[in-house]
Amino acid sequence: MTRAVCPGSFDPVTRGHLDVIGRAAGLVEEVVVAVGDNMSKRAWFTPAERVALLQEACAPWPGVSVTLFSGLLVDFCRAQGAAAVVKGLRSGADFDYELAMAQMNRRLTGVDTVFVPTAPEWGFVSSSLVREVAGLGGDVTPFLTPPVAAAVGRRAAERVT
Ligand code: PNS
Repeated sequence: MTRAVCPGSFDPVTRGHLDVIGRAAGLVEEVVVAVGDNMSKRAWFTPAERVALLQEACAPWPGVSVTLFSGLLVDFCRAQGAAAVVKGLRSGADFDYELAMAQMNRRLTGVDTVFVPTAPEWGFVSSSLVREVAGLGGDVTPFLTPPVAAAVGRRAAERVT
């Protein structure tokens, strides 16, 4: 059974993330989407909320599971018996950031990272931009599934009241 880990903060999960997760699901038998719980206090969603939104969004893929992780990603990958980490790349800036982490992770335990180029239509989409645009009243529905867009809308409204 080939298993890969797709890690991230997913605050919130976007259609760009789902593109990468779905394509990873086509490459390996099992994908474990791993939600980091060590993100900054500026996160909009708790780790449990992010997991719940991801579980709903990934439900169509039987080989995909979603879980929280803490500590080192490489330790989580080893515990999961994962053959690889899968990460999406939107740009050269992503590559510069991800390359060092991939090399560090490989040095630590030998786990390799497979980079998946993001589909062009989602190349400019990030969770941080979604939060910024939504927080200022912009329409982020094209970049999110309807349940995630609803959750973002509710959270944006809570933040201004
Ligand atoms: O959404 P992000 O910012 O791409 O997610 C980053 C995440 C959570 C995948 C990354 O910060 C991570 O792997 N954190 C776990 C701690 C760790 O292993 N740090 C060493 C990385 S070389």
